[in-house]
Amino acid sequence: MSEGVNRDREYWIAKCKALMESNRVEVRGHRYTRPAPSTYEHQWLWDSCFHAIILRHFAFDMARDELLSLVAHQVKGGPDAGMIPHMAYWNGGGAELWGYDDRSIITQPPLIATAAMLVYEKTNDKTLLEQLYEPLAAYHQWFDRRRDPDNDGLVSIIHPWESGWDASPRWDKPMGLSANPSDEESRLARKNLVAKLIEYECDAQKLAEAGYFHVEAADFNLIRINDLEWLGEISRIIGKPNYGWGEMAAETYYAMEEKMQHDGRMFDLDGNQETRIDVPSAAEFVALLGRDDDLVSRLNDSHNWPTYPIPTTPLNGGLFNGDHYWRGNVWLNVNWLIWSALRHSRYNPYDAIARELTDRSLTLVDKHGFHEYFNPITGKGHGSFPHSWSAIVLDMLLTELGEQIG
Ligand code: GLC
Repeated sequence: MSEGVNRDREYWIAKCKALMESNRVEVRGHRYTRPAPSTYEHQWLWDSCFHAIILRHFAFDMARDELLSLVAHQVKGGPDAGMIPHMAYWNGGGAELWGYDDRSIITQPPLIATAAMLVYEKTNDKTLLEQLYEPLAAYHQWFDRRRDPDNDGLVSIIHPWESGWDASPRWDKPMGLSANPSDEESRLARKNLVAKLIEYECDAQKLAEAGYFHVEAADFNLIRINDLEWLGEISRIIGKPNYGWGEMAAETYYAMEEKMQHDGRMFDLDGNQETRIDVPSAAEFVALLGRDDDLVSRLNDSHNWPTYPIPTTPLNGGLFNGDHYWRGNVWLNVNWLIWSALRHSRYNPYDAIARELTDRSLTLVDKHGFHEYFNPITGKGHGSFPHSWSAIVLDMLLTELGEQIG
């Protein structure tokens, strides 16, 4: 354990509980946690998954409500039936951008089954799994139907917002941006792309043919593999038909190996040609689950492991900017994903690195507060405050403490 880290269970539960309660929203019989006051009043998909994983430690009912409110905006009809939108506007306000007042028209990394199983692990209550199973089945079938035009098992995202890594250098080229674009330039490009999505009715194939953003992202696909595997487990627990989740996961896994993994790296693939996007990022570590040792040794080098790991863009290579949105900051939800990948690695126990990551993440929050994102060298907090998913450090700590006691 690193020196001087506060690993006191009650201290962290109290801190995180206060944060989550301060961001709680109740609307028409539903409850969710907003990511942060004023900037982020609506409900976001992967945020709510992280919120449920935090809430499972001290507020079971709220963890359940968080996931149920998330699937409440699932698309019911039309070509995108089954999609779960990345944003739900519970009080309206989406129409100007999306053409729908209550939801967006794109999704975000699918980890709802994963979150549901982590909640179940604490509650042992099958009801939530029963309520979520068919919506989640429809959601993953939607991916298969609408987001895998070349039928190779790898699903595509059609907007950087779907990755959750809005302004990452990973997307500069696929977005047609200059090298090191200004915040304004990249923001405008993302906004303009929404108009194209509406024009092309979010048809991934047509968007790819027309040369718009169409990326098979490594971390996104790995997150989906996990979710599919958990969906299989849910079907077993509640005795519902398994629609082939294991086979779908395996197909994606092998396609990642075939097409994305190369020379110890894991690449996102751009467009119809599936060109490798040669931009190193922490997404490669998210995608390392059960794979290559090279990735772990790179994780251990100083460009990826400054005072506060893990910068989303490594310090070397000329693309790093620790103070600019998604261009090299620490995001604690990404840390959680990497921590989880390290712990679940099939072949090697990387628990010591995982524990060190927990300690550094706890220290970061303890010293600087629950910011949306941080400079990995100075720890300076940026973005919205207080940001709910930064409480995910609680899950890292309590999971480790639980193991020590057990
Ligand atoms: C930002 C992040 C995105 C997150 C949202 C709400 O847009 O880039 O990943 O879901 O904020 O926290």
